[in-house]
Amino acid sequence: MKNISPLSGRGLLRGALGAAAAAAMLSAAAVRAQEPVQPIEAAKVADPARVELGKKLWFDPRLSRSGFISCNSCHNLSTGGADNLKTSIGDKWQKGPINSPTVLNSSLNLAQFWDGRAKDLKEQAGGPIANPGEMAFTHDLAVDMLRSIPQYVAEFRQVFGNDRLGISEVTAAIAAFEETLVTPNARFDRWLKGDMKAINEQELRGYQLFKASGCVACHNGPNLGGNSFQKMGLVEAYKTDNPAEGRSAVTGNDAERFNFKVPTLRNVELTYPYFHDGAADTLAEAVDTMGKIQLGKTFTPVENRDIVAFLKTLTGDQPQLTLPILPPSSDTTKRPQPFE
Ligand code: HEC
Ligand code: HEC
Repeated sequence: MKNISPLSGRGLLRGALGAAAAAAMLSAAAVRAQEPVQPIEAAKVADPARVELGKKLWFDPRLSRSGFISCNSCHNLSTGGADNLKTSIGDKWQKGPINSPTVLNSSLNLAQFWDGRAKDLKEQAGGPIANPGEMAFTHDLAVDMLRSIPQYVAEFRQVFGNDRLGISEVTAAIAAFEETLVTPNARFDRWLKGDMKAINEQELRGYQLFKASGCVACHNGPNLGGNSFQKMGLVEAYKTDNPAEGRSAVTGNDAERFNFKVPTLRNVELTYPYFHDGAADTLAEAVDTMGKIQLGKTFTPVENRDIVAFLKTLTGDQPQLTLPILPPSSDTTKRPQPFE
């Protein structure tokens, strides 16, 4: 675990310049630059046509065997990019094995999935379509479906400049759309940028406690997480019935058992329940558990409320979307068979 002292940067400055000079120099902006958390920037869209195509695919349930499940079913963009269920519901109402993480700001993560088994969004996007417990389709059937729809064929040609239309183009378009799903302008970000009034005293106390207690050792950077794998239950073992092994399932290294990607805390107010097993229903419970098992710390009710208040300042502008109108199936499009 990296030891990040939020004050070390200031301490250095003070040593070099003398306390008075340093204090004078530390304008609000300079202090903010040393914070372990950085603001999220709005997405820069390089290829709007590709994003628009990706948005259609994101919402298209015909990429599933049942014709009923889309990416948005489990990563609902009306509810913070997650499904608010302990674990997701897949094809034939199957109980999913793990909690659905938010897709908001997931482009900032070092890898995708709780155990990081997909290196980026493009690689990830192929997974759920063919996962028998999720959309339960195959890549070939998904591509056949798209190729049977003239409007899709034309749109892929326009975006990619060729007639390939395979799973690689499908996942590239979905990833381009997902890259736009960032949430800038949270109240906390406005504070980081120098607006002193953007958060209140309680929220500021919560942030200071979040730093001083050591939460920032793992939840740091623009995403307050997403940039490392860490043990769940560092100080005290985490008890769960969920069989997920974490990072060791990917690396085969037993020392990494129960290491999970540190989840982002952006929009965490919206993405309950919490943890990979969805066991914590509320933020108060998640903060209490984190204090105990990661830091060996029991927060007082007031401290817990302060940290929760801080976490709620991390809700940013949600993506503003117009629902895409999907091109209709053609006469040759294979019809879904949801009940077989
Ligand atoms: C049936 C529910 C379900 C559907 C449908 C689904 N997902 Fe997911 N998604 C999940 C779950 C559960 C996870 C976590 C799996 C894991 O980590 O092992 C996940 C993980 C992800 C992640 C990784 C986020 C992170 O921070 O690690 C991304 C990105 C993602 N899904 C995008 C998609 C896309 C794109 C589609 C459509 C092609 C899709 N999902 C369809 C449930 C679903
Ligand atoms: C040693 C690293 C580490 C420290 C320190 C740490 N966390 Fe975490 N945090 C994690 C990991 C890893 C997870 C995901 C664990 C899992 O679900 O198995 C997590 C999950 C969370 C979640 C749930 C997010 C979600 O979407 O499911 C919240 C909230 C949270 N942490 C807040 C905090 C707070 C507040 C502190 C300080 C009291 C803290 N964390 C300290 C590593 C850490």
